[in-house]
Amino acid sequence: MKHKELYTVAVVGATGAVATEMIEILEERKFPVGALVPLASARSAGDTVSFQGQDLTVQELAEHSFARVDIALFSAGAEISRKFAPIAVKAGAVVIDNSAAWRMDKTVPLSVPEVNKADIAKHQGIIANPNCSTIQLVVALKPLHTVAHIKRIVVTTFQSVSGTGKEAMDELLEESRDLLSFKEASPNVYPYQIAFNCLPHIDDFLPTGYTKEEMKMLNETRKIMGDDSIHVTATTVRVPVYVCHSESVNIETQNKLTADEARALLAEAPGVMLYDDPAHKIYPMPIDVAGKDDVYVGRIREDDSIANGLNLWIVADNLRKGAALNAIQIAEALIAGRSSLN
Ligand code: A2P
Repeated sequence: MKHKELYTVAVVGATGAVATEMIEILEERKFPVGALVPLASARSAGDTVSFQGQDLTVQELAEHSFARVDIALFSAGAEISRKFAPIAVKAGAVVIDNSAAWRMDKTVPLSVPEVNKADIAKHQGIIANPNCSTIQLVVALKPLHTVAHIKRIVVTTFQSVSGTGKEAMDELLEESRDLLSFKEASPNVYPYQIAFNCLPHIDDFLPTGYTKEEMKMLNETRKIMGDDSIHVTATTVRVPVYVCHSESVNIETQNKLTADEARALLAEAPGVMLYDDPAHKIYPMPIDVAGKDDVYVGRIREDDSIANGLNLWIVADNLRKGAALNAIQIAEALIAGRSSLN
């Protein structure tokens, strides 16, 4: 791919929750888009999406969709990515894929620009965007790892329904409306009612009893941090929140890090907003962080139950930094380091 003044950008899954944010963020950050190609299923072909004041017609995704496309942003699920990402690469595009399809492939960089921007240049056509819960975790923990070396992470997530997609957001609204009208909830996307409930079940269960989402947090953290010695144990929970994932995180470090030292490091860290003043009831919450770009960190405390431990509360907008924004930041790094593009 040659350096261009303007790039043709395809968005696969253009009618979905994440891709809608991608299109907005491309415009907001003035990404040099010459033409935007919105792609989705036959169901929404002919619908329009708005970009730079124009209504663009959504086209049905097909094998020929990627002619003259420079960058293809995928967010239509792993099955679509597995099939169509290689087709897009063959047509000459660089794919930035938001699904889990390619993340653990050794030839595919998995990048959070604040942590491992340099990996982006190693791509062979596909760059993977990490899982939303992992992105916010590594943005907040990398500065602490660099100084104190994290040995173990214990994380419990409180993940919003937008992480599942648009249908799940509608389901939360409909169930809430039904239950408040004394009607029964009728779950469809989730196995149980999500309104007024918590589901300790995200993605499929594995024979070990962990879910795939929980294992993503281990495997992707190691790959992005470039450190297979970090131990991670996760419990991932879906909660009735529309946007923003929250995480209760306990870390054990090799070298002692006080809460004040951690606060000083995070105050300077790229992509992090330190939001930690309990005396004034200042701590991150989804209702405040939704729509923001930074990863918010608060409730930083020393864990006195071990020699070198810290507790943190980490909240980020899962549609923005957890998905769309991170993908666009990868695209920005890609065009900035153009000599390394294929
Ligand atoms: P469509 O709206 O036509 O179904 P979300 O993550 O919010 O659930 O959105 C998923 C996105 O993936 C939507 O844009 C959806 O398009 C798209 N999608 C789902 N299945 C396909 C498919 N078979 N081909 C192309 N796009 C698909």
